[in-house]
Amino acid sequence: MNLTGGISWHWMAWRSQTRWAPTAHAIEQWLLQSAQALPSKYKLEKPSLLLIGASAGWMMSSQWLSQFARVDTFDIDPLAAFLFKWRHGAALKAQNTALECHTQDALQNLPVLLEAHPNACVFFDNVLGQMRFQHAAADWQLVEKKIQHFKVQLKGREWGSIHDRMSGRLNARIAVDSALPIRQPEWNEQHWLTQLDAQSPWLDHLTQNVFAPGSRVQDFAWNFSPIYRHWLQAAWVRP
Ligand SMILES: C[S@@+](CC[C@H](N)C(=O)[O-])C[C@H]1O[C@@H](n2cnc3c(N)ncnc32)[C@H](O)[C@@H]1O
Repeated sequence: MNLTGGISWHWMAWRSQTRWAPTAHAIEQWLLQSAQALPSKYKLEKPSLLLIGASAGWMMSSQWLSQFARVDTFDIDPLAAFLFKWRHGAALKAQNTALECHTQDALQNLPVLLEAHPNACVFFDNVLGQMRFQHAAADWQLVEKKIQHFKVQLKGREWGSIHDRMSGRLNARIAVDSALPIRQPEWNEQHWLTQLDAQSPWLDHLTQNVFAPGSRVQDFAWNFSPIYRHWLQAAWVRP
C-alpha cells in the first residue's frame, strides 16, 4: 500500500487545487528564479532532469519543466505516469522537452539512475518528508540515516529538493481570503511557527538535515486544508 501517494493523493490534490494554488505559484517562482542561477555549463546546453516522487505533478510547474531538454519522472504509484503526461505532457511537447514517465522506487534505485543519467539534475519533489510514513515511528533514526546516505550518493551532482519540514493542526480555521504566511529572514523557527498559527505539537518530517547548514533554504507555507498546514523547505545543492 502506498501511504504517501496513490489514488487518495490524486483525489485530494484535484479537489484542493484552488486552496493549494498560492503555494504552487510560490514554488514556481522559486524554481524559475533558481534556474537563472544554474551553473554556466547549463547555460550553454539545456540540462535534463530526474524528477523523483513526481506523482501527477500537482504542484509542479510546466513552465519550469519546459526549460529542460528532457524530463524523466519517477513514482512508485502506477497511476502517476499517465496523470503526469495528462497534466504536463502538452506543455512540455510544445517546448520540445522530451518526457519519459517511469513507475519505480527511485529512492531504492538512486545509484542506478544516477549512473544511467550522468549529466542530469535531480529534484526530489515532496518525497523526502514522506519517508517517515514508510517506516515504523520508532525507526526515525533509520530515516534520517537513509537521507544522509542519499546525500553521499548525490555527491558531485546538481540536486534539489522540496519537502515537508513540519506539519500540523492550527489554532483557528484559515480564513478564505487570508494571505499565505511568508517567512521573514530574521524570524527564528518559533516565530515562524507562530505566524503559521501552529497548534503544538507539530509533526516533524525528519528532514531538518537534508540541507547542509548555511544553504540558501526557501520556506513555504502550504494550506493543506482549512485546519491543517505544512511548512515546506526547498533548496538546491550545487557541486
Ligand atoms: C506527497 S506526494 C508528492 C507528489 C508530487 N510531487 C505532486 O506535486 O503531486 C509524494 C509522492 O512520492 C511518491 N513516492 C514515495 N516513495 C517513492 C519512491 N521510493 N520512489 C518514487 N516515488 C515515491 C508517492 O507515490 C507520491 O506520489
